[in-house]
Amino acid sequence: MLNGERLTAFTRLISDETASHGNPLSLGFYTMANDAEAILDGDAFFQRHAMIVGSTGSGKSWTTARIIEQVADLPKSNMVVFDLHSEYSPLGLHENISVLRIAGPGDIINPGEDVIFLPYWLLGYEDMLALVLDRTDENAPNQAMAFSNTVIEAKKQVLIAEAMNEELETFTIDSPIPYDMGYVVEELTRLNNERVTNPGTGREINGPFNGKFNRFIPRLQSKRSDRRYGFLFNLSEEHLKTDYVNNLVKKLMQSTDSEVPGVKIIDFSEVPSDILPIVISLVARIIFQVQQWSLSIERHPIALVCDEAHLYLPSRNNAGASEARALSHFERIAKEGRKYGVSLLIVSQRPSELNSTIMSQCNNVISLRLSNQADKNAVCNLLPENLGGIQDFLPTLGIGEAVVVGDSCLLPSRIKIKEPRHQPNSNSVKFWNEWNEGNYQQNLNNAVRNLRRQTIVE
Ligand SMILES: Nc1ncnc2c1ncn2[C@@H]1O[C@H](COP(=O)(O)OP(=O)(O)O)[C@@H](O)[C@H]1O
Ligand SMILES: [Mg+2]
Repeated sequence: MLNGERLTAFTRLISDETASHGNPLSLGFYTMANDAEAILDGDAFFQRHAMIVGSTGSGKSWTTARIIEQVADLPKSNMVVFDLHSEYSPLGLHENISVLRIAGPGDIINPGEDVIFLPYWLLGYEDMLALVLDRTDENAPNQAMAFSNTVIEAKKQVLIAEAMNEELETFTIDSPIPYDMGYVVEELTRLNNERVTNPGTGREINGPFNGKFNRFIPRLQSKRSDRRYGFLFNLSEEHLKTDYVNNLVKKLMQSTDSEVPGVKIIDFSEVPSDILPIVISLVARIIFQVQQWSLSIERHPIALVCDEAHLYLPSRNNAGASEARALSHFERIAKEGRKYGVSLLIVSQRPSELNSTIMSQCNNVISLRLSNQADKNAVCNLLPENLGGIQDFLPTLGIGEAVVVGDSCLLPSRIKIKEPRHQPNSNSVKFWNEWNEGNYQQNLNNAVRNLRRQTIVE
């Protein structure tokens, strides 16, 4: 056992040793020797996925911001941050960080350059079904079949019209080809009303799909006209062009003003929570596929930061249709991402609710204060057995204090995280303070009008 002074000296030694190895990711200072800088090996940290966990208010967002800034300081860094609560926009002050957002109801008319649309035609077949199909409907299998045939036909028409002959040979239902949803609805309506002549009796009878879409079509139509889903369905001409996907990929994987990558913070705060898993995994999948289809000598590594990951990457038995789709994309990235230079940084306050397949692929864990027993167990299960003692002091860590375990540091270390240069927005409303001294200026009439029109007018 090392005593006070020797421990401090030893910690300094570790600090010097890690610093000398290059690739420094500087988190803060060791608790044991608060003049010794705590440096992780940045290569090892991102090489095999990492995780930041801690109870609410323990300092996860600040730690994440600290890491994002360090990454952004590298001239050719490449990172996409899934920001669920508009928390990280202050980091946009960094010259290498841009802030984008998924179009909300207020962005449909005149969207700015920083607004992202994710047209429905980019969704894979299974993802689209999770969005529009009600699996409890007795006609669900028929609906899925007719929907898929119609979408294939619609895509084919586009390829023929644009003379894209090579694509015509090889396309599948999952190929990113814009198709006309209006045509799909028309065709399904026709099938739903179809009457045919019985060849035996010569009498008119219901067609094979007659009445099968009675609930499917209104469900699909209500999604299409809901402005909260506008980023998927309320599209301009530009969004329905085949090469929109090129623009989108550039937005996600390059910075706005130059042809270098950079850090992109994407604000998902206006995406309805029921489809959030599908939407986040759509972005992740596009990035993963672009990496897969890039020439290996050109492939530039990219990290995906998944904030509040328990919301869209839950354990399998707690996953609904939308989460199940997200899991299938993210489990693939967790398992194969390394081959293609895609790294995950999973951030969560509820590790016990996180998907264990994805968690078990994380080789570095930064754990801030954790008090819930189930959460402590979930984290400790990932650690080597001889670190059992960590469980006892996880609840005692101070705010912004963390234990770091993994191949990015020589030894498990207790670190006081340094505050980021630009702090994330706090997402806690100060009720008492607002009630006591806040300015009351809420325009309720305006809010009700916005609600009615589904557009936010300031
Ligand atoms: N490294 C740190 N140093 C000093 N204060 C911190 C640190 N990390 C967090 N805090 C304080 O704790 C608050 C909550 O941190 P935050 O990162 O938003 O927590 P979480 O994301 O885990 O809910 C911050 O607003 C800040 O006041
Ligand atoms: Mg947070």
